Amino acid sequence: MNPRGPLCEGEAVVFLDRKDREYLRRLERGRNISIRGGKIVPEELMGQEEGVTIRSSMNEPFLVLRPTLAQLIPNLPRQAQVIYPKDIGMILVWADIFPGAKVVEAGVGPGALTIALLRAVGAEGRLISYEIREDFAQMARDNVSRYYGPAAHWTLRVEDIALHLDESDVDRILLDLPEPWHLAEKVYQALRPGGVLLSYLPTMLQVKSLVDALRDHGGFACIETMESLMRFWHIKGLSVRPQHRMVAHTGFIIAARRTAKRRGGSRIEDGG
Ligand SMILES: C[S@@+](CC[C@H](N)C(=O)[O-])C[C@H]1O[C@@H](n2cnc3c(N)ncnc32)[C@H](O)[C@@H]1O
Repeated sequence: MNPRGPLCEGEAVVFLDRKDREYLRRLERGRNISIRGGKIVPEELMGQEEGVTIRSSMNEPFLVLRPTLAQLIPNLPRQAQVIYPKDIGMILVWADIFPGAKVVEAGVGPGALTIALLRAVGAEGRLISYEIREDFAQMARDNVSRYYGPAAHWTLRVEDIALHLDESDVDRILLDLPEPWHLAEKVYQALRPGGVLLSYLPTMLQVKSLVDALRDHGGFACIETMESLMRFWHIKGLSVRPQHRMVAHTGFIIAARRTAKRRGGSRIEDGG
């Protein structure tokens, strides 16, 4: 989708009310948009620049913008947990995703990370995504097609990555599934030397199992574990302070590099 120019039919836009609450909708001809009891005619927005303010039939004003990734992801239709924008920002850097990269990810869920990866690898890159559940795969297909657009560089495999990971010479592998430690050897075989494995895990017991497995495997170095705590601030008049609420814990990020050879099952010292 073209992220520039006037708003077009089929595009996703975010409507922001007076309190900056977000409503993600699509501009479709003949399908009025309902927000907070009022109606908005999508044809009135087509051809306008983003950043305009429109009034609903209830005379309520809404600012209209194309969603950034940070606005899109929390508003994605979903039945499974998505990775939060604060973590996706870190993941893109710590997995070192680059334009043209060959990337494998599992699982896909609603496809929040998928959309960020498709953007980051670009049309010259390749993203192969594994999702074990057909219903989640369909949700991801719908979200990618609605909120990213055509993606010829994306392959979605509805399979258990533990049984079917058969790619080779992969630059980066990203795992958002419960027991990644069972995949150490498969990941080692699929990654090219120097490639990056990145895993996203909600609990420290899972982190410990993964880090131990990577060390015991002997084919991974630079194993690092981190999390991000992000606090927004309220700045209005003399009230300049952190916001009262924050999303504290989401998940831990574990990153590692694939070495050229395994070190005979012995533990690799990585500075920890
Ligand atoms: C938390 S969701 C992923 C969210 C996604 N990364 C995002 O950012 O929107 C975890 C997904 O992993 C899938 N999954 C779990 N085990 C899997 C496996 N062995 N192979 C492929 N997918 C798997 C689940 O079905 C689920 O959809």
